[in-house]
Amino acid sequence: MTATVMSAYGPWGIVAGGSDGVGVAFAHGTASRGINVVLVARRVPVLEAAADDIRARYGVEVRTVALDLSAAGALAELERVTSDLEVGLLVYNAGADNHSVAFLDKDLDAHLELVHRNCTAVLEAAYRFGAPMVARGRGAVVLVTSGAAWAGGATLAAYGATKAFDLILAESLWAEWRGSGVDVLGLVLGRTDTPSHRRMRDAGGESYGGELADPYDVAEQALTHLGDGPTWIHGSANPTGGSPFGALSRRDAVLAMSRGASAGKKAGVER
Ligand SMILES: NC(=O)c1ccc[n+]([C@@H]2O[C@H](COP(=O)([O-])OP(=O)(O)OC[C@H]3O[C@@H](n4cnc5c(N)ncnc54)[C@H](OP(=O)(O)O)[C@@H]3O)[C@@H](O)[C@H]2O)c1
Repeated sequence: MTATVMSAYGPWGIVAGGSDGVGVAFAHGTASRGINVVLVARRVPVLEAAADDIRARYGVEVRTVALDLSAAGALAELERVTSDLEVGLLVYNAGADNHSVAFLDKDLDAHLELVHRNCTAVLEAAYRFGAPMVARGRGAVVLVTSGAAWAGGATLAAYGATKAFDLILAESLWAEWRGSGVDVLGLVLGRTDTPSHRRMRDAGGESYGGELADPYDVAEQALTHLGDGPTWIHGSANPTGGSPFGALSRRDAVLAMSRGASAGKKAGVER
């Protein structure tokens, strides 16, 4: 396995969804390695507080961009406001579903917003920021996905489908860009202790007894293994291995995923 020297990628990183949870942990890990960061999120006070903290701790430059990644034109705007920077690292993190219900119990517009933020915008980010990296012959792209990508499951229809999109996109770009100097990692997460996850759990009104991953461990592991793509499964005994459902029929995998989703839903958690 390859220990990453991040300064080799370039002087700036972007974390899309970088103001709390896994995203802000990526921002800390990036800044602690001397890389300047652009943080993207919607809530300005949370974004600015995260930026101030990172500046104070690591002495790097931090730029904030308040954007809704599910809105049309968001990635063109992000490219415009960072056009003066050499971006060597892109982490596309924003992606959680904070309302995991049956497919028809959610508004169509909410599904479409999720698909835009988790698919269209991810593809656009990889295209707009990946192209200059490939041209320069250096860079790294991390697409954060989920165990929900492994198989379909009840209450996971749109979310799981978007996460499968992100996984396949990351793996495909890894295959195309290997040898170009640009590393790509599809980062598969299980339940992780983030504000987003806690909001979901609190809304469910029950406590979940299972172990949650630490977002700082998640980010640190991924940043250390940027060169070990295409896929890194956080928390797995074999993080570069295959799907944990690999030995099951598709039907059994979908039933197992649905049981897991229903247990998580009872406890008010998402994956
Ligand atoms: N936490 C888990 O248990 C878990 C499990 C499996 C996979 N994952 C994956 O891990 C990633 C991170 O999850 P997370 O739990 O940290 O929560 P998250 O809600 O995906 O990420 C939170 C960050 O993204 C920003 N964000 C969310 N929606 C945005 C939007 N439309 N536009 C711009 N910024 C947006 C948030 O700030 P604002 O709200 O201010 O915009 C915040 O900075 C996701 O891709 C998720 O699918 C998480």
